[in-house]
Amino acid sequence: MLDVVVLVSGGGTNLQAIIDAVESGDITNARITGVISNNRNAYALERARKHGISGRCISPKDFASREEFNENFMAAVDEWKPDLIVLAGFLVVIPPAMTERYRNRIINIHPSLIPSFCGTGFYGLRVHEAALARGVKVVGATVHFVDEGTDTGPILLQKAVEVEDGDTPGILQKRVMEQAEWKILPRAIDLIANGKVTVRDGKAFVSP
Ligand code: GAR
Repeated sequence: MLDVVVLVSGGGTNLQAIIDAVESGDITNARITGVISNNRNAYALERARKHGISGRCISPKDFASREEFNENFMAAVDEWKPDLIVLAGFLVVIPPAMTERYRNRIINIHPSLIPSFCGTGFYGLRVHEAALARGVKVVGATVHFVDEGTDTGPILLQKAVEVEDGDTPGILQKRVMEQAEWKILPRAIDLIANGKVTVRDGKAFVSP
């Protein structure tokens, strides 16, 4: 059984997709052991509570320095002894020591087809604003392993979504979530939980 800790910052619709997939059996051999938010008011924490999943908040605001936050944050994650850490809309930079400790055991969902519209400053609605400003016709989402860079780790799954006439950033964000994010993030967890994923030479491979 793969023990999964999910890190969140906001609404938690991706967390909800994971919870639903575990409950429906779309994800097998995995359970969510805990949810950590950097934001006390994140609705994601409420979603966890409603499903009997332990949740806690650890915010950089509660600590004198980033180092102190990083130490406490890592200690909180370690307490749950996760086999896999899932960044589901988590908007805090992962401490390098944590990336090292959990090499190839942290995945992130990003709302674009990496390497487009990713890296520092590209998160949430900004990604969709940039895609519409550039006039691309196809967008999408990516699940990737987390390394020391921002959105640079091995790509595990991607799904494309069409841009439509009249799209606003908000409309596009919703379509990317519905058609891509909420599908590929649970799928990635199921693949990992069932031993189907390997990482070699900076690339992720899925076996049939
Ligand atoms: C999602 O669209 C996720 O891809 C994005 O934040 C949103 C969180 O929504 N993540 C990033 O931009 C990371 N760079 P949610 O809280 O409803 O799952």
